[in-house]
Amino acid sequence: MNAVTPASSVRKVHVPLGERAYDILIGPGLIASAGSEIASRIKGRKAAIITDEHVAPLYLDALKASLDAAGIVSAAVVLPAGEKTKSFEHLVNVCDKVLEARVERNDYVIALGGGVIGDLSGFAAGIVRRGVRFVQLPTSLLAQVDSSVGGKTGINSRHGKNLIGVFHQPDLVLADTDVLNTLSEREFRAGYAEVAKYGLIDKPDFFSWLEKNWQAVFAGGSARSEAIAVSCQAKADVVVADERENGQRALLNLGHTFGHALEAATAYDSRRLVHGEGVSIGMVLAHEFSARMNLASPDDARRVEAHLKTVGLPTRMAEIPGTLPPAEVLMDAIAQDKKVKGGKLTFILTRGIGQSFVADDVPASEVISFLKEKHP
Ligand SMILES: NC(=O)c1ccc[n+]([C@@H]2O[C@H](COP(=O)([O-])OP(=O)(O)OC[C@H]3O[C@@H](n4cnc5c(N)ncnc54)[C@H](O)[C@@H]3O)[C@@H](O)[C@H]2O)c1
Ligand SMILES: [Zn+2]
Repeated sequence: MNAVTPASSVRKVHVPLGERAYDILIGPGLIASAGSEIASRIKGRKAAIITDEHVAPLYLDALKASLDAAGIVSAAVVLPAGEKTKSFEHLVNVCDKVLEARVERNDYVIALGGGVIGDLSGFAAGIVRRGVRFVQLPTSLLAQVDSSVGGKTGINSRHGKNLIGVFHQPDLVLADTDVLNTLSEREFRAGYAEVAKYGLIDKPDFFSWLEKNWQAVFAGGSARSEAIAVSCQAKADVVVADERENGQRALLNLGHTFGHALEAATAYDSRRLVHGEGVSIGMVLAHEFSARMNLASPDDARRVEAHLKTVGLPTRMAEIPGTLPPAEVLMDAIAQDKKVKGGKLTFILTRGIGQSFVADDVPASEVISFLKEKHP
């Protein structure tokens, strides 16, 4: 593992955000070449690496060796794994450690981990010294295709998820596709739900490609890199069009309104449901609801469900272990997630595979009767 690979097997997606533009490199062996990739792009020679207790034993030494070889001095902070780490307590600790490491404006915070580590470290990088450089080394599939790109950072509050944070774009994203081999199959599948999401938003050909090639994506190799690169490009396109989510960036929430309600209904208990699984069920519901509203054919909903089921993702609320609260409670969670104006909700609906759109006039009464049908 981590053999230095020929540059040709590394794909690049550029995110053209003017002064905040950056590259995303995707391919095998990128942890081993992280030092030289960073040193060739960013001036500073000091780094604070933020990682978690699952990822550190696997990849921290390799990253430090690569930084050492490039003349970059680094200090590392290893945090507990899991969503609870996105807290004020850990933010304070991380900010302290970044300052202790004497990271200056042109030096960097490196996030080595999944979305939890990325969101927390990005926030710290955005506020320490009013902003230091930030490098993402995403190690989960979800982080490689979604959270490491786009600059949203933050922590959770007792009022809800991701409510405190800043926009702070990374200066470089290195998605080493080899590290996904140590990710649990369940976490890999959960990230795959977000990959499929990009096809369902506006890339019907990509969705068809995934239907044919998903096994190769799961197996690794060039199909995996390809799927990640298409996903990063899709996310980058949306982010460039609407960096601060005033409009079209909301499309990235396809399946998430229902998904978030299910996550809340299971008290964010990852033994019952992880985010991507909620998104999988949510995307099927969004297609079924669109069919019910006569916007799309029910065949599309069946096709989406068939594919997600084939890869082993849950597609039905009944598959979530334990008892779910009644439809009214799920509806309350939806209403909290989305602003309800005059009995109308904003939802991502679809006219078919790859034809999603932002609908801001969805009657709450239709959503509740749909939920009652699905979850009597
Ligand atoms: N900023 C954004 O735009 C954005 C977008 C989507 C999600 N998110 C956030 O991302 C978080 C979820 O990210 P996640 O799914 O990566 O969760 P995570 O960071 O908790 O990682 C999942 C689990 O996998 C482990 N892990 C990660 N990489 C590994 C590897 N290579 N080998 C072995 N184990 C590994 C982690 O230690 C953890 O236990 C949520 O907090 C969510 O809010 C942010
Ligand atoms: Zn998501």
